[in-house]
Amino acid sequence: MISLGTQAGTVESPFTPEQQQRFDAGLDRAIAGYPSERRKAALLAALHLAQDELGWLSEPAMAYVAFRLDVPPVRVREVATFYTMYRLRPVGRHHIGVCNSISCWAMGAEDVLRQCSEILGIRPGETSGDGHFSLEEVACLAACGGAPAVLVNNYAFFENVTADSLKALIRDLREQPGKAMAKGPLPRLPDPHARIESQSAPQATGTLGQPAVTTRAEAGSAEPKR
Ligand code: FES
Repeated sequence: MISLGTQAGTVESPFTPEQQQRFDAGLDRAIAGYPSERRKAALLAALHLAQDELGWLSEPAMAYVAFRLDVPPVRVREVATFYTMYRLRPVGRHHIGVCNSISCWAMGAEDVLRQCSEILGIRPGETSGDGHFSLEEVACLAACGGAPAVLVNNYAFFENVTADSLKALIRDLREQPGKAMAKGPLPRLPDPHARIESQSAPQATGTLGQPAVTTRAEAGSAEPKR
């Protein structure tokens, strides 16, 4: 369990040298967006960066983020446990979040979740034995107009999901993981903030079966094609 209070001394980095480079560059950019005395405001971005590198936020990762931003570790944990986009345990290469808030619920999200669970053979909160998939029930994805909505790996939205489109999505992820989605738990998105700044359209506008946005990693994944 992460310690309470402020961090004393140096905290060991959880990153490889390559990951460290990307994390440092991203953190510098995030911090630069705030007045120097407000660098702690980059906490959400720092957690995203760490998660993008590691696939999830381990206790050492949270402790390291706390150290880098000079924030009490318990504060980092409070933030990381509050938002559902942060993962507190290892997830599958494709982490599928099925929205079950009101609009999606009214449009059949429970069926989507059940079907997803049956196809993958896992329940919400679990990861498949081969590590390819994990499933989660999530709160509103801000894609209510396209309910029921599903989010894969935090960045690719799928709307108006039906039993058939869900099967097709999972089949595509299985058969062409590098084509449809970015790699994980290796870095999915070297700089999510740069992408968000440069994107001209809202994220949650994907048509059925198509991601609303293409991440850099999706566009240039080194994943071998099958
Ligand atoms: S209720 Fe599902 S996206 Fe808003």
